[in-house]
Amino acid sequence: MNRTARILFTLTLLSVLGTHCAVAGNSQDESALRKAGMDTLQDLKEEVQDALNAQSDRKAIKVAEELAKLLQREKQYWVLAKQPDVVRLAEESLSASRQILSSAKAGRWDHAANAFKALEATCTSCHDLHPEQRAGQSQPRLVLARAKLPLVAPSRDAGPQSTQRNAALARNPDGTPDLSGIWQALSTANWDIQGHQAQSGVPAGPGIVEGNEIPYQPWAAAQKKKNYANRATADPEAKCYVPGVPRLAYVPFPFQISQTPGQLTILSEYVHTVRVIFTNGSSHPPGHIDWWMGDSRGHWENDTLVVDAIDFNDQTWFDHAGNFHSDALHVIERYTPVDADHINYEATIEDPKVFAQPWKISLVLYRHKEKNFQLLEYECYGFDVEKYYP
Ligand code: HEC
Repeated sequence: MNRTARILFTLTLLSVLGTHCAVAGNSQDESALRKAGMDTLQDLKEEVQDALNAQSDRKAIKVAEELAKLLQREKQYWVLAKQPDVVRLAEESLSASRQILSSAKAGRWDHAANAFKALEATCTSCHDLHPEQRAGQSQPRLVLARAKLPLVAPSRDAGPQSTQRNAALARNPDGTPDLSGIWQALSTANWDIQGHQAQSGVPAGPGIVEGNEIPYQPWAAAQKKKNYANRATADPEAKCYVPGVPRLAYVPFPFQISQTPGQLTILSEYVHTVRVIFTNGSSHPPGHIDWWMGDSRGHWENDTLVVDAIDFNDQTWFDHAGNFHSDALHVIERYTPVDADHINYEATIEDPKVFAQPWKISLVLYRHKEKNFQLLEYECYGFDVEKYYP
């Protein structure tokens, strides 16, 4: 049987027998059926990958729907088995498959690719959760399947070690790293994200841009020069605007992360900026909406929080040196805690209106360890406050 025929066969079999066996608890039938279900999941996942690579919306929609159906059944199984941990992972998997579906319907192949990565991560998490249930030969099969050409190039440092559990990290009850606390970048990036010499009031810095060059389109390179010349008044910081993304991560002010299931909130000392990152599996709302801080949806890939942020306005800059973007900005951030007190922060910046190609920044976020450290207030005035309020 070819792959598609096998999928159809198993899905039909499952829909006739599946719920009956799960409820009746005939463990032998049930186990055979679940194995078949997992094999079908594997096949469907590959079909989805093929469809996404071919950017075939019809096929992607069809297989993502089947995938969601099967994962719905998988979830139901674990609900009946009263295993809340596994139910949660099945839900994540289900929500990733629904994101693939909605992205394919909207023709957003970049979002679909992210959702596919999230889906693969949930397959792995669930299998890691139940190593004792994975007997002999299924292990190499999974490894083989993962060795297939990835849809999106893996991140620079995604080595084998990145799948190992880092014992140095504090964790939430659901196993994800606990990032709560007060953090700050020790970087001169807020003055200039590229390497720069010291100037009056500006410390020298090596820059945070990978390769140091920013691939501006020609018109945008000219605009950047203009911005630089006018930076004293044109920098949105001089107007007290909230800093946008990714600048919020490296303005020279601390920020606090508060983490609850389904949501991570960043509170910055800098002009009371609040940024919500939803981690509940939801997708960006439809349409372009202008937000100062954009719309952020995150998911976990092992110990890395991956955040997809879109829907920005064009009013913020990357730094005081005039590096800028349009409202087509798309930022993909990766927060990887390396120990209890350091987070490696990386962001890929895309903006087809301004840049010729995507580019990357990276820096380290440090945890504040001072006793009783807390956020204070930085109010900002876009006028000469001492003149009017002496
Ligand atoms: C909710 C938990 C969970 C999720 C999510 C999950 N799996 Fe599984 N998977 C299992 C368990 C448990 C087994 C062991 C099955 C058994 O033998 O009963 C398994 C086994 C497998 C197997 C081996 C089956 C065999 O022949 O023994 C494959 C292949 C597989 N999974 C693929 C996938 C793929 C692909 C995904 C993601 C699209 C996925 N799984 C998501 C729990 C999960």
